[in-house]
Amino acid sequence: MLQNQNVSTAVSSDARISHHARQLSMQLQLLRERLFPPSSQKMLKTFTSGEAAQLVGVSDGYLRQLSIDGKGPSPGVSQTGRRSYSLAQIHELRQYMAAIKPKDALTYLPWRQSGEKLQTIAVANFKGGSAKTTTSIYLAQYLALQGYRVLAVDLDPQASLSSMLGVQPEFDLAEGDTLYGAIRYDEKRRPLKEIIRKTYFAGLDLVPGNLELMEFEHETPTALMARKTSNYEIFFRRVGMALAEVEADYDIVVIDCPPQLGYLTLGAVCAATSLLITVHPQMVDVASMSQFLLMTSDLLSVVRNAGGDLNHDFIRYVITRHEPHDGPQAQIVALLRGLFGDEVLAATVLKSTAIADAGLTKQTLYEIERGQVRRSTFDRAIESLDAVNGEILDGIKKAWGRP
Ligand SMILES: Nc1ncnc2c1ncn2[C@@H]1O[C@H](COP(=O)(O)OP(=O)(O)O)[C@@H](O)[C@H]1O
Ligand SMILES: [Mg+2]
Repeated sequence: MLQNQNVSTAVSSDARISHHARQLSMQLQLLRERLFPPSSQKMLKTFTSGEAAQLVGVSDGYLRQLSIDGKGPSPGVSQTGRRSYSLAQIHELRQYMAAIKPKDALTYLPWRQSGEKLQTIAVANFKGGSAKTTTSIYLAQYLALQGYRVLAVDLDPQASLSSMLGVQPEFDLAEGDTLYGAIRYDEKRRPLKEIIRKTYFAGLDLVPGNLELMEFEHETPTALMARKTSNYEIFFRRVGMALAEVEADYDIVVIDCPPQLGYLTLGAVCAATSLLITVHPQMVDVASMSQFLLMTSDLLSVVRNAGGDLNHDFIRYVITRHEPHDGPQAQIVALLRGLFGDEVLAATVLKSTAIADAGLTKQTLYEIERGQVRRSTFDRAIESLDAVNGEILDGIKKAWGRP
């Protein structure tokens, strides 16, 4: 025993830590299999026929008639005769309506048309806790609910977006299963299509993240010096190039950026057609945001001088965790509106225990049943989220040249 300990102290720290890592990972895997058997996958609720009708843009009566006539997908029917639809069925209804009413196809199935370019929205700010992930997931789900084909990209090594979307970054991913796999510099680079996963939320696919993304930050300086691989593309174009491979499958990409201004964030900003900068309206956060903006503009000018394309359709500040009745917050919001005008979204995401609590169980308010939370709290929060997401969608449609 004693001898054994002596041996282990003689082992170098890197080997020892690596041994610990492997042991821990093995034990966690066992623990996880016990706690979360593979069957405990995340599922999405079903939608009442009223909700489904509203999402598709028809009346509930019309939907009822369709199901009586046996047209379109057949809803689930409860013992009391209530009809319900899965989100996948709601998308089927959209397809069905678009097919029978070709003149109004776009109102039922709003996919982008030829000439309308893929919209890539990067959500950024280097302040952790400024609600980047919350903003990203609510936006991505909102757009999927509206019938768009959405790809969410988790660029944060901490991977909270992935775990919200049902992928456990420590367990579910092998090497190369994050965006890193598609943007790395060596010959292990693989097509993004292989990395994308469907989620339980129909219409919303995911490129998961985990710690492996850090490799890109570490390898880029070396790659910049070497630049000899045959199909070398400079770091700030790599995210965009990977996304271009799957462009045809999506209308909108939402990228949750890491809380730092590294190569990944720059890659996302260069790939983006629009930027959302999240702001928690408090003095400390806004002070750090001003630093973020200065550093971003410095870095972006370097990228631009190196030939990067930095024309964005829109840049918007999103005020999050807003407490309208808080005096100091009101002053900061007024200051931002005074400075940036329309570039601050008119709607704000209110601070809400419903949002925070749903987040604890890795859910959003779009996923849970309305009855699960106090109704007034739920409605107030959803209203503010819908308003913010609706404004962003307006910006997207404007970029597409739609009325
Ligand atoms: N509108 C909100 N109301 C209440 N809590 C919020 C709201 N938005 C975000 N949060 C909470 O704040 C924390 C940080 O948000 P998160 O989106 O993870 O920030 P970031 O990705 O910028 O680090 C999370 O615990 C989240 O649940
Ligand atoms: Mg985050």
